[in-house]
Amino acid sequence: MTNPKQINGFSKLNKTQRREWLAEQFLSGAQAEILSGFDAGDPAQQGVIDNFSENTVANFPLPFGVAPNFVVNGKTYAVPMVIEESSVVAAASAAAKYWMTRGGFRAEVVATEKLGQLHFRWSGSPQRRAALLNGLCTRVRAKTKVLTERMEARGGGVRNIVWKHLPGVAPDCYQLLVSFGTADSMGANFINTVLEAYGRELERWAADCPDLAADERQLEIVMAILSNHTPNCVVRAWVNCPIADMAIPVNGIDPHVFARRFKYAVDIARADPYRAVTHNKGIMNGVDAVVLATGNDFRAIEAATHAFAARDGQYRGLSRCRIDNDTFHFELSLPLAPGTVGGLTRLHPLANLALDTLGRPDAPELMAVMAAAGLAQNFAALRSLVTTGIQKGHMKMHLQNILSAFRATAEERVQTEARFRGETVSHHGVREFLATLRG
Ligand code: MEV
Repeated sequence: MTNPKQINGFSKLNKTQRREWLAEQFLSGAQAEILSGFDAGDPAQQGVIDNFSENTVANFPLPFGVAPNFVVNGKTYAVPMVIEESSVVAAASAAAKYWMTRGGFRAEVVATEKLGQLHFRWSGSPQRRAALLNGLCTRVRAKTKVLTERMEARGGGVRNIVWKHLPGVAPDCYQLLVSFGTADSMGANFINTVLEAYGRELERWAADCPDLAADERQLEIVMAILSNHTPNCVVRAWVNCPIADMAIPVNGIDPHVFARRFKYAVDIARADPYRAVTHNKGIMNGVDAVVLATGNDFRAIEAATHAFAARDGQYRGLSRCRIDNDTFHFELSLPLAPGTVGGLTRLHPLANLALDTLGRPDAPELMAVMAAAGLAQNFAALRSLVTTGIQKGHMKMHLQNILSAFRATAEERVQTEARFRGETVSHHGVREFLATLRG
């Protein structure tokens, strides 16, 4: 195949034309037809989805499931989860049910501060900052009031402004580190809008503020953007119960042996980054699924979480386990900054429905549910890892995917499920079994 010529104005083409171009250049006509097979039935709904992104040629469906029996702070939820990995929703559901009969999950929001940065170059000296900061803050706050007053009425707004010097970058490198409350929104647009307005005001301040000397008037804005590092927007979730109540149906393992081994696994993830990354990935299986289902920004939450996991200089597992007086304690702290208003939360019909399923929580309540989902997922993964091993449950759930890959008929599915009931499924084993069935 020859390299296609540069295409200009691709975004101006309508969807049919984009599909035709793709078919001509990269796919067969039959393959291109697959794209239209995923269109929403309702053209109005399809229009809404198309507007989320650019150059769209199709929808990309993922399963939307719910994990029932999730008790968080005494309230029972069916937690919406969007994820492609088999066994995640099943594991979350099993852990939720397990803890439902042991007091459920508890969660508290520790803090909800969001941050943004205005980076600039300035010809003044670092020592002058203290004398100028108050006047500067009063001015930028007053001049941008029109942008912040609605958020202030909702309990948010600009909380604090710190003027930092970054001499490691360059002697004239400065930053306003601004902290925000964004009520129930994630706040990215609000923060970026305010920061850009601060940037414009800072330029005017440098030009006309009478407190500045002539050699302090050189100021150049470099960039204004929120920080996805949210170490002060944190939720903590936990479970506990007497170890005697932890008899687990699998393998008949003594609950004290189980609790000790479980704690050992958590401690390994605290100490060893190789294990910590996988451990945290398991936590994020639960968190991300709820983040996606509710129309939140999973890249932001992933980035924040992993920075938080490395906040003391070493990447660590995010959960902790403690055994005192024969009671098992298991907890997780996460820097989550989701929204329940704004963004896709109402626009995406299924995100909106997911929030309805959760009873239209405010942002702190959603943080609690997400953290509980992460803790549940971590509990389920470690429970399998320290008892049966992960593959038994995982491959049981994955069996349907293997059968789909072999285009199994309904009858072949029934027979294969019966054949592997109670046994660890393997790709090879299923292939052999289907070959026997098919003669
Ligand atoms: C798989 O998606 C997640 C696990 O690897 C997590 C873990 O090891 O804790 C099972």
